[in-house]
Amino acid sequence: MANDLFSVEDKIVIITGGLGQLGRQFSLALVDRGAKVALFDIQVSEQKVAERFGERHTEDNLLFLAVDITRRDSIEAGLGQINAKWGVPHALINNAALDSPPNAPAEETGPYETYPESSWDKVMEVNVKGIFLCCQVVGGQMAEAGRGSIINICSTYGIVSPDQRIYEYRRVAGAPFFKPVAYSASKSALLNLTRYLATYWAGRNVRVNTLTFGGVFNNQDEQFLKGYCARVPLGRMAREDEYNGAIIFLVSDASSYMTGANLIIDGGWTAW
Ligand SMILES: NC(=O)c1ccc[n+]([C@@H]2O[C@H](COP(=O)([O-])OP(=O)(O)OC[C@H]3O[C@@H](n4cnc5c(N)ncnc54)[C@H](O)[C@@H]3O)[C@@H](O)[C@H]2O)c1
Repeated sequence: MANDLFSVEDKIVIITGGLGQLGRQFSLALVDRGAKVALFDIQVSEQKVAERFGERHTEDNLLFLAVDITRRDSIEAGLGQINAKWGVPHALINNAALDSPPNAPAEETGPYETYPESSWDKVMEVNVKGIFLCCQVVGGQMAEAGRGSIINICSTYGIVSPDQRIYEYRRVAGAPFFKPVAYSASKSALLNLTRYLATYWAGRNVRVNTLTFGGVFNNQDEQFLKGYCARVPLGRMAREDEYNGAIIFLVSDASSYMTGANLIIDGGWTAW
């Protein structure tokens, strides 16, 4: 039988924001294929982990670590625990991010002109600086080991502007509503962090790529779904398991010649 081109068996993988909607999916998809997965998440607690992973949270190949990616000492402590248990990671998935939730305070979803500086700083701190630090600490160790794959998770809203027209229905209800700017700007920053590090670490065999997603179904309200889905050539949002294949591809040696690139999976959102 041919070797599995997409094997992730025994790969040690860090996923930031591992307790979130997609982080959970990525973790289980990797563990089910024989990888050892460490989750960095600011929300890690016995209760939260059990809530999100049920009985699977006790599996040997899953390690839940309370790490704040905006703090170097916290990342270093998390990495130290992985090193002691398994060794040097093979892959880092920079997945943790802040977005504005549907119930965000009005000033955050108001006009650009009055978007709060403090919200901008908070989003940039996690979505850009947090990834910069994770790459420094974890990527640096992988470069020393002479191998690794870094996957920076981006959004269609980091490549093109949000289409503010699909949020119009929330405006007529009262206060103006705009999808805020900081998320888009922060995600765009990852595109060139990826290219910078891909060339910087190419000689050390650490590959760095961006993986860009379109919106994932998460019980959004009907009106949002109608507007969003009409804007997608495939006519729907992604299911939460539909990005697992790309994660497996980028962690595995199937992507061994890919670096500095951006893989876009968005149902065609950016195609027209
Ligand atoms: N869900 C979507 O529709 C969608 C679409 C496009 C792109 N994305 C991207 O995919 C990634 C995952 O999205 P999601 O919807 O699963 O997010 P989510 O909000 O469900 O999860 C994010 C996780 O990050 C953690 N986190 C936040 N700040 C942190 C910090 N300082 N240190 C450590 N962990 C921290 C949170 O605790 C949370 O568990 C994000 O980068 C997001 O921008 C998501």
